[in-house]
Amino acid sequence: MGKFYITTPIYYPSDNLHIGHAYTTVAADALARYHRLIGDETYFLTGTDAHRQKIQRKAEAQGKKPQEYVDQIVAGIKELWRRLAISNDDFIRTTEPRHERGVQEIFRRLYEQGDIYKSEYEGWYCTPCESFWLDRQLVEGKCPDCGRPVERVREESYFFRLSKYADRLLAHIEANPEFIQPVSRKNEMINNFLRPGLEDLCVSRTTFDWGIKVPFDPKHVVYVWLDALSNYITALGYPEETELFRRFWPADVHLVGKEIVRFHTIIWPILLMALGLPLPKRVFGHGWLILEGGKMSKSKGNVVDPLVLIDRYGLDAVRYYLLRELPFGADGYYTEEALILRINTDLATDLGNLLHRTVSMIEKFAGGVIPAPGPYGPLEQEIQQTAAESIAAMAGHMDRLELSDALAAVFRLVGRTNKYIDEAAPWRLAKEPGDRERLGTVLYTMAEVLRIVAIALTPFLVETPGKIWHQLGLDGDPARAWQERHWGGLPPGTRVRKGEPIFPRIEIKPTAEKEGPPVEAAPPSPKAAEPAPAAEIGIEEFARIDLRVAKVLAAERIEGAKKLLRLTVSLGGQERQIVAGIAEHYDPATLVGREIVVVANLRPAKLRGILSEGMLLAASNDAGELALVVPERPIGEGSKVR
Ligand code: ME8
Ligand code: MG
Repeated sequence: MGKFYITTPIYYPSDNLHIGHAYTTVAADALARYHRLIGDETYFLTGTDAHRQKIQRKAEAQGKKPQEYVDQIVAGIKELWRRLAISNDDFIRTTEPRHERGVQEIFRRLYEQGDIYKSEYEGWYCTPCESFWLDRQLVEGKCPDCGRPVERVREESYFFRLSKYADRLLAHIEANPEFIQPVSRKNEMINNFLRPGLEDLCVSRTTFDWGIKVPFDPKHVVYVWLDALSNYITALGYPEETELFRRFWPADVHLVGKEIVRFHTIIWPILLMALGLPLPKRVFGHGWLILEGGKMSKSKGNVVDPLVLIDRYGLDAVRYYLLRELPFGADGYYTEEALILRINTDLATDLGNLLHRTVSMIEKFAGGVIPAPGPYGPLEQEIQQTAAESIAAMAGHMDRLELSDALAAVFRLVGRTNKYIDEAAPWRLAKEPGDRERLGTVLYTMAEVLRIVAIALTPFLVETPGKIWHQLGLDGDPARAWQERHWGGLPPGTRVRKGEPIFPRIEIKPTAEKEGPPVEAAPPSPKAAEPAPAAEIGIEEFARIDLRVAKVLAAERIEGAKKLLRLTVSLGGQERQIVAGIAEHYDPATLVGREIVVVANLRPAKLRGILSEGMLLAASNDAGELALVVPERPIGEGSKVR
């Protein structure tokens, strides 16, 4: 049993975070959960980085104090991590006294030992990147990192002697191939930054005061990167030699986006060397989630809100997508279509069906009780081998931070087992009394695979493993069952508990115009009419849809969305807000007081940022006409439609 300390960047609370930040944090969470699963003593840190000139400017523009401004954003960030089930052990804010004290002490020590000195800085500053640049580094007069305009700055500053440690750092990087990952980023750091020679780093500013004061020269505040990077040790109690610090430093993994690898593999290790501390074992720079308009960024405004996606698709679907879609390290495009495809193929079809088929067949062919396996045949031996290999592959990938490959390894077992069911055809065995024993072997094999899959999924998904466990009739927690990941742990005689499909398929309506999301919530707009006949369903499936009569209490247009109306309806004592794509067909005033029909148990979704807690029914034809479905005569709000 070892120890594992993992961190995310501390994010700027300049705006609400988006799916890009969720990507890093969910990945770190999966790694932390994996190390807890295998029994490592694990510490997972995330937090926020408040002292940015830009934040001070934003707060001022809103007439707020910076502290007040960031408090509100940080509350939202903590809520986002709660909703994503992030299992961080600590959340550090750079405005906390424990951090301020630590940074001041670090600054004082470095100054006293001559590694920080006072001089004058003249050059350019990119506020969005919080980076200094020299004339020769600018690209067409703009920031070489982001291409935005830079400001001329000239001020008295403290400098940190990066140059003094450059050779030691280069030697460290070359002797420790694990230190910077993926390797491509290591080469970039060496060739673009270390080999040309390092400039000393400006570590204080005097032109603004939102920051940690230099203890012996309070007209200076500590410049963001020295402040921010120190969080990884101040959170453990540094400069005090706390239990936590002794136990967990150095970090095992600093997980960061590729744009800040430079700060983490040059400035940060040199700072640690100067302090006489060991260096982190690995800095992993992952790629970006990109939207059609380029990298998602708070300053560009092209962001995707993870809360909306969780509301729409569920927590595990969003986590799965983030962890599975991009090969870790590479960039990838975010699209909602790709997310839905992942849910429908991997989660609903592969995993969902495996569970559903298994539990249903155990109910149908074995009275709901998991049979004892008879002798295993070649097919079962192959499945057992695949199970052992998948788990070993998953563990190996997790050690190398290859999250997507780790999940793919688990799903190879799922896929193989679905195929096995078709090959072993338990429904045929059930017809022959002489095949009873063989049937038991097959049913046991199916259930046992699912038990192992549930354990292997616990680092990634937070609701699903427990649901699988429960349906298999098991007690306890799959996240504590790593020791029982080997074949044969499932006790025969366990009574299964059949439940709902864990991942219902998501219907994709072809949306001709992107007024709403591609699924649910808005009633069919004429252009989005579904021409193909829907698949046959049973009455039980229909009964899962709670159709109710609702009375329209208020209706209004939504600014900027020409097709949408916001309705307030009453379902008999209960008020709901519904966003509906009927604005081109109905004058809002004519709707008030009428009874309509709504789907009352539809998962709430946001349309144009407005919460919709249901969907109304309307008919549409090829001519583009639309008519509301209404009771033939008033029958009373809340009445059930069936
Ligand atoms: O840089 N794709 O904070 P920040 C993938 N405070 N990851 C993304 C992403 C995207 N589109 N957008 C953001 C800072 N990220 C500093 C860090 S650490 C001592 C100080 C993630 O709010 C990714 O991890 O700009 C990236 O490095 C981080 O958010 C940047 O967050
Ligand atoms: Mg950034």
